[in-house]
Amino acid sequence: MTAISDAALDSGIRGASPSAGSPEFEPIGVTARYPPPSAGIDPDQSKGWITRLMPVIRTHGGLLTAGLVTGIIGLAVQVAVPAAAQKAVDSAASGDRQTLWITTVVIIGLGAARLVFGGANRYLLFKLGWNVETDMRAIMYEHLTKLSFSYYDRTQSGQVISRANSDIRSVQLLLSFGPIISVSVLSFVLAFGYMIYVHPLLALVALAPLPGVYWFGVRFRDQVFPLSWVSQARMADLATIVDENVSGTRVVKSFAAEERQIALLGRSAQRIQWANTRIVDSRSRWNPLIESLPRLGTAMVLLYGGWLAIQGEVSVGTLLAFSAYVIMLQLPFRMAGFVLMQGQRASAAAQRIYEILDEVPEIADSPGAVDIAHPHGRVDFQDVRFGYNPETPVLDGFSLCIEPGERVALVGRTGSGKSTVARLLDRFYDADGGSVLIDGLDVRDVTLRSLRHTVGLVLDEPFLFSASLHDNIAYGRPGAARSEVVAAARAAQAHIFIQELPDGYDTVVGERGYTLSGGQRQRIAIARTLLANPKVLILDDATSAIDVTVEEAIHQALQVLMADRTTIIIAHRLSTISLAERVVMLADGRVANMGSHAELLATDPRYVEILARYGNGGDDGGPPAAGNGAPGENRP
Ligand SMILES: Nc1ncnc2c1ncn2[C@@H]1O[C@H](COP(=O)(O)OP(=O)(O)OP(=O)(O)O)[C@@H](O)[C@H]1O
Ligand SMILES: [Mg+2]
Repeated sequence: MTAISDAALDSGIRGASPSAGSPEFEPIGVTARYPPPSAGIDPDQSKGWITRLMPVIRTHGGLLTAGLVTGIIGLAVQVAVPAAAQKAVDSAASGDRQTLWITTVVIIGLGAARLVFGGANRYLLFKLGWNVETDMRAIMYEHLTKLSFSYYDRTQSGQVISRANSDIRSVQLLLSFGPIISVSVLSFVLAFGYMIYVHPLLALVALAPLPGVYWFGVRFRDQVFPLSWVSQARMADLATIVDENVSGTRVVKSFAAEERQIALLGRSAQRIQWANTRIVDSRSRWNPLIESLPRLGTAMVLLYGGWLAIQGEVSVGTLLAFSAYVIMLQLPFRMAGFVLMQGQRASAAAQRIYEILDEVPEIADSPGAVDIAHPHGRVDFQDVRFGYNPETPVLDGFSLCIEPGERVALVGRTGSGKSTVARLLDRFYDADGGSVLIDGLDVRDVTLRSLRHTVGLVLDEPFLFSASLHDNIAYGRPGAARSEVVAAARAAQAHIFIQELPDGYDTVVGERGYTLSGGQRQRIAIARTLLANPKVLILDDATSAIDVTVEEAIHQALQVLMADRTTIIIAHRLSTISLAERVVMLADGRVANMGSHAELLATDPRYVEILARYGNGGDDGGPPAAGNGAPGENRP
């Protein structure tokens, strides 16, 4: 089973060795193609939400200014139209043809200006809203990538998704409409000033219903706001259910639990429906009322103004202008309700977004963190204590020193903390007590990038991205050449089956690589880590789904690869354990015993029990042939 030529391995895997450039280690990942936003959220949590957002808005200051200026001009133009119409009607009544002509032309000009400025205003402000939305997405995603595993342990994906979608959308809506509507307050001032100037009493009569419009608007908002809030929160719940159903569809189907899931989803959907129906109910009660009130204003203007006109106190044109203003002016009043509501909504949405952004990554580079430049691969756990919650420590007094190039198997019952040891070494979590050292450096004092480049972790349930197999394998080194990818795949015994796929290395695998079998996915994951060429390799149950003969071949390849690499093998299978020079037994959060497989087998009944538990037939005697766990040894 030596399909791997050492030359290929040398040119391929070893080719990944750190080159003598700076940075000294080869960084995992690529540089961003789209530069991140140049500003972030103001970190001061005591400030208001808009103030905190200001640094981001300010980067689009030009858009905001231009949007406001065009908005103001557009509204001034709009307010001027009824006044011009008034002049036109009055000049028609008095037979002044020249003025009629001029005012008509002016009205056409005003209409054209309104078209241009109104359009520009909408365009600019919406662009502002979308730009800020894009920035917030980028800021949020960047932050999410920094957050620690402990955050993801306690967060539902649906909540994050809903914050990234509907909450950011709420903020965008306010940023787009808020300035438009705020500017419309100015149109109110202009028009009202003009009306007072023409006829104060008629102006007051015309505006009499507007406080009613505002008051009903506020009542409406008070009813709808809590409901829309409920509706949004329930949307997030629904998103979580849908997400779990899609990702867990195999479990659902295998238990024929579709109906239960449908019922669960149905109930969640009904809860949204209830909230939304109540919203529509309020809307259909209040909106017609709010819309009819200005008509009352028109009627009053026509009645009182008509009487004034009969008296000869105002002209017919004034009457016309005033009734136009009544309709025009109710808009800011109605919209004020909308802006206040959207403002509250956006504020709550922003708080929920900030909740994520204010989450301090627990695991981050400490000030003065250094790169592990030329790792040797010595691993040292010193009296480590750790628990996912402090009351129940998983590891307590765990001490283990692994020499560079050594191969150590970590065995223990399920839940004994083997994976936890791996997570501490890769600094997914920080130890509560004691220290974890690599080459004598505390993992908290080195940069995460260099640490994760040094320590490669292969998990038992590998995640594959929706991308080609080549890209999946080259995930840690996107620039890797095809020959390097092939060499890694060969070492992981993945080359042969990949070649048999219709598109070979260019085959795109599904979201979780479901088109591949579990064992095939594990082999891709091993290849992916091998290509990144870490100095310390942790295989956490990484070959559990691979059949014994293939595993054997992988082991042969790994032995070549492991030559100058520290390797920690977490496994249950005897054949896998046998790959290690030293077996470390984990129990009660600490190292319970260690030695060679043969020693432990002969002296420690607990070891025999652990092996037997996983169907290794641990008591059948003889140690496995060094490094070549024969298939027969794996029989129950
Ligand atoms: N993210 C987590 N949050 C809280 N508790 C956890 C978390 N991960 C693991 N645990 C708990 O910590 C303990 C050790 O888990 P760990 O995954 O290290 O066990 P393991 O030895 O790798 O087991 P296995 O052999 O089944 O993989 C278990 O009791 C587990 O329930
Ligand atoms: Mg585990």
